[in-house]
Amino acid sequence: MLTIKSIGLSVLIEIFFLMQLTLQSHTILNNGVEIPRLGLGVYQSPIGETTFRAVRYALKIGYRHIGTAWLYGNEGDVGDAILKSGLPREQTFITTKIWNSDQGYESTLTAFERSLRRLGLTYVDLYLIHWPVKGLGKATWKAMIKLLKDNKVRAIGVSNYEIPHLQEIIQNFDVKPTINQVEFHPFLFSRELLQFCKMNKIQLEAYSPLTRGIKLNNATLKAIGDKYSKTPAQILIRWGLQHDLVVIPKSAHENRIKENSQVFDFQLEKRDMELLDSLNEDLRTVFL
Ligand SMILES: NC(=O)c1ccc[n+]([C@@H]2O[C@H](COP(=O)([O-])OP(=O)(O)OC[C@H]3O[C@@H](n4cnc5c(N)ncnc54)[C@H](OP(=O)(O)O)[C@@H]3O)[C@@H](O)[C@H]2O)c1
Repeated sequence: MLTIKSIGLSVLIEIFFLMQLTLQSHTILNNGVEIPRLGLGVYQSPIGETTFRAVRYALKIGYRHIGTAWLYGNEGDVGDAILKSGLPREQTFITTKIWNSDQGYESTLTAFERSLRRLGLTYVDLYLIHWPVKGLGKATWKAMIKLLKDNKVRAIGVSNYEIPHLQEIIQNFDVKPTINQVEFHPFLFSRELLQFCKMNKIQLEAYSPLTRGIKLNNATLKAIGDKYSKTPAQILIRWGLQHDLVVIPKSAHENRIKENSQVFDFQLEKRDMELLDSLNEDLRTVFL
């Protein structure tokens, strides 16, 4: 018979907290700012009505976190949907990113103002360096810190950073990134990076958590989905949440935006997590 003693109190506490997760659950970043655990990504979401509708629908059904970038061209639609959602601004969490050609101290400050104007907002919740650019990392990070100190952004972070890139910032600045947004899913399970980020209190955020659709027919994924009566996409998102990640699947379709949010009524057992962990094949679907 299962008893509290045989299961272990710490495991029980972990199960309790995982079951408590909801679409509005947050994690607390290293500067105290709360970020919703699940967000909507809008990469390659067409500029205009499609992105506007996707974001508006996501906010309507309970998403509170939207991830865009200058590069995507759709910051204006994201900002518009937020302003027209009727939600108090402080109940939404918006991420945007500085593009590579804008990196450098002055150019980062200028690029940020451009993004803010395009968003139509007065501040950004999280501003990220989109990719590491050789020779510009330190100047760009210095500008990011200025934006933070000027209260134009609530948190700053990076994206596509490997351990040496993170070390460069940690060793040279008092303010370290709150987030590292990287491609992350069972087929690209970068344990070392995850461990490094955890040790340094940098929250890892999983982009392309659905492998951009490439692996949704994987047999193991489908079998685990059948076991929980969930789709492969939902299994992938739940796997990321159970690894303590912030997860930002993208869809421009209402039925999928909803499907991707229905991941809080089940929990993957330890052996299924391990099975998913074992699928790693260093598969990258995004390249610069
Ligand atoms: N920092 C970076 O360099 C970087 C790079 C890439 C992505 N990202 C961020 O991460 C977000 C997500 O990544 P991603 O867009 O590359 O890939 P993803 O979320 O892994 O996959 C998106 C693809 O899966 C489809 N899809 C969504 N939900 C589905 C479902 N339930 N069933 C079947 N197919 C589904 C989408 O199609 P439909 O839209 O047609 O539904 C789209 O083709 C991006 O939007 C972006 O915000 C960041």
